[in-house]
Amino acid sequence: MASALRIAVFASGQGSNFQTLVEATQSGRIDAEIVLLVSDKAKAPVVERAHKAGVDSYVFNPKAYAKREDYELEIAAELERRQVDLVVLAGYMRLLTPVMVDRYAGRMINIHPSLLPAFPGKDAIGQAWNYGVKITGITVHLVDGGMDTGAVIAQKAVEIRNEDSRESLEERIHAAEKELYPEVVSWFAKGRVHVEGRKVSILQK
Ligand code: GAR
Repeated sequence: MASALRIAVFASGQGSNFQTLVEATQSGRIDAEIVLLVSDKAKAPVVERAHKAGVDSYVFNPKAYAKREDYELEIAAELERRQVDLVVLAGYMRLLTPVMVDRYAGRMINIHPSLLPAFPGKDAIGQAWNYGVKITGITVHLVDGGMDTGAVIAQKAVEIRNEDSRESLEERIHAAEKELYPEVVSWFAKGRVHVEGRKVSILQK
């Protein structure tokens, strides 16, 4: 049997998706191991969550480097040392350069809280709320050099109801993320993700 998929999660904030993924690997829902958390924010709650879960962290200060490529080269070396198979971005609020994007092409995914290509970038939930759309949702996609532009792997729609507040909408979007992200990661763990250009299909196995 092939050994479990080795995952690094990149996160800058609360880390609720990180937590869900840790639990899904520990419960066996995903045949994978989270071997590293990478964070650009030493004080982010996700760093404490990793500590509590016994997951190693690599925390760096972007301001200490002249350019993005410099810290990404160090991260890439850390990932190679730990033989990471899949990079999972979970609220990592930085664009990546070809240093990371080329090394992990087809093996680096992101979750974004809108139905891309609508509302890319920051505060996607707020953007959708202010626009007044009736349906928004979440997208899991491969990471390329653009801002939320990589090939779509999976999406889930979330309806905006009359009685919603921004907060209640946010809650349902976050709940949907906790369902979809572990499922997509499990597809990678089972080798079910087939990519042909922008067309991603999920193989039956
Ligand atoms: C998630 O809602 C994720 O979709 C979003 O950040 C949040 C992180 O929450 N990511 C983006 O907006 C990326 N453009 P978490 O830290 O609790 O997992």
